Amino acid sequence: MSDATNVTKQFDVVVWGATGFTGQIVVAYLLEVYGASSENLRWAVAGRDEAKLSQVQKTLGAEEVPRLLADSGDRQSLDQLVAATQVVLSTVGPYALYGSDLVAACAAAGTHYCDLTGEVQWMRTMIDAHHETAQRTGAKIVHTCGFDSIPSDLGVYYLQQQSQLKFGRPMQTVRYRMAKASGGVSGGTIASMLNMMDEVAADPSVLTILNDPYALNPLNTVTGQDQHESMSPIYDEVLNQWAGPFVMAGINTRVVRRSHALAGMPYGPGFSYGEAALVGAGPKGYLKALFAGVGTWVGTLFAALTPTRRILGKLLPKPGEGPSLEKQQSGFFEVLLHGTVDDAGSQMIQVRVTGDRDPGYGSTAKMIAESAVCLAKEASDGAGGVLTPSIAMGNDLVIRLMRHAGLHFEVVTTRGDLIES
Ligand SMILES: NC(=O)c1ccc[n+]([C@@H]2O[C@H](COP(=O)([O-])OP(=O)(O)OC[C@H]3O[C@@H](n4cnc5c(N)ncnc54)[C@H](OP(=O)(O)O)[C@@H]3O)[C@@H](O)[C@H]2O)c1
Repeated sequence: MSDATNVTKQFDVVVWGATGFTGQIVVAYLLEVYGASSENLRWAVAGRDEAKLSQVQKTLGAEEVPRLLADSGDRQSLDQLVAATQVVLSTVGPYALYGSDLVAACAAAGTHYCDLTGEVQWMRTMIDAHHETAQRTGAKIVHTCGFDSIPSDLGVYYLQQQSQLKFGRPMQTVRYRMAKASGGVSGGTIASMLNMMDEVAADPSVLTILNDPYALNPLNTVTGQDQHESMSPIYDEVLNQWAGPFVMAGINTRVVRRSHALAGMPYGPGFSYGEAALVGAGPKGYLKALFAGVGTWVGTLFAALTPTRRILGKLLPKPGEGPSLEKQQSGFFEVLLHGTVDDAGSQMIQVRVTGDRDPGYGSTAKMIAESAVCLAKEASDGAGGVLTPSIAMGNDLVIRLMRHAGLHFEVVTTRGDLIES
């Protein structure tokens, strides 16, 4: 038996980064749903600054939750943290700056791990450094357990199961469409994006990784026909609308393709996946999609050039800051995924994934919290490695998210009418 299945550990889940903007929302959620450490869930908070951590506990009414200390620069403290728990949930980012030693410690000890990184270049480094070790120890290392990339990864997973049920075979082509969302962005996310651009400026080979549509696939394996995301307008013939670039596509598509590869290519070598954001129909929709492409291009250029990147860093939210509670609670998202089993496109299914809070924080905090509980409770056994949400947890996580976290996965018509849940 690996350490990953060792239930004698002191805690089921430890939340590292509990003082941060997202970490605090995670703590509030666990407290609300599971209570302070109980038989139901033995959990603890962790951070690097005891006074700040204790103040956050007081503010959130979480004084009874046990507290651990660990700093990213102190490997011994990380090893102690990892030894105390079945699962580490990390909201300490930018992950490329502060996360590598923790992943190394979890992989070596056979402790499960989940995070919210969208830093593709860092995930590639973690896969290369720790996948084999984690396979050996049984540790499930699961990146992208938030809005990027759970709706994409589990959305495709759910859609493909519906396809098997209805048509007896998987979909060849799947398209994700960001339909509606309301929310904001935090300083931690901005810092992670700017750090990624710093890395590109220091080492242009990082850009090659970010532009590779199969950047997270196992090395030296068959990939597929998908290309790097285009900035041009896309006409969605199923929904009769125009779509422009979707800001998370460069992360989500890589995760979905890794899931497909890790599962042994069950959708076939011709499987194709893409993401875009719906903007509307007719000539107005076309113009909006065009402007969205130009806007994305200009935004990327500003972030890529060092002087403008520095200005962006000053103007945008700082670490610790993020959307107001009101904005989180009134926020929501709706994603549509449709696919066809053949080139003619005649046999089609559409799935809708919705969440009841702002996608980046209110809903993301619930997604990662349930991922951690799922890794501790239902998905603690099975193969280890640097995995994806669908590969590590599959339907166990779909069920948890629907029961507790305000997410819905449902089959709908192209007009949006519910067919079945
Ligand atoms: N994928 C998604 O959908 C999604 C959504 C939300 C966030 N994120 C990602 O999640 C990460 C966190 O975002 P955020 O806005 O919550 O950031 P934040 O408010 O800046 O919080 C960062 C946390 O990391 C801790 N930390 C920093 N340096 C540390 C160190 N050396 N050792 C230990 N802890 C350290 C901070 O502790 P102190 O309080 O002591 O400074 C704080 O708890 C970012 O990478 C962001 O991109 C992703």
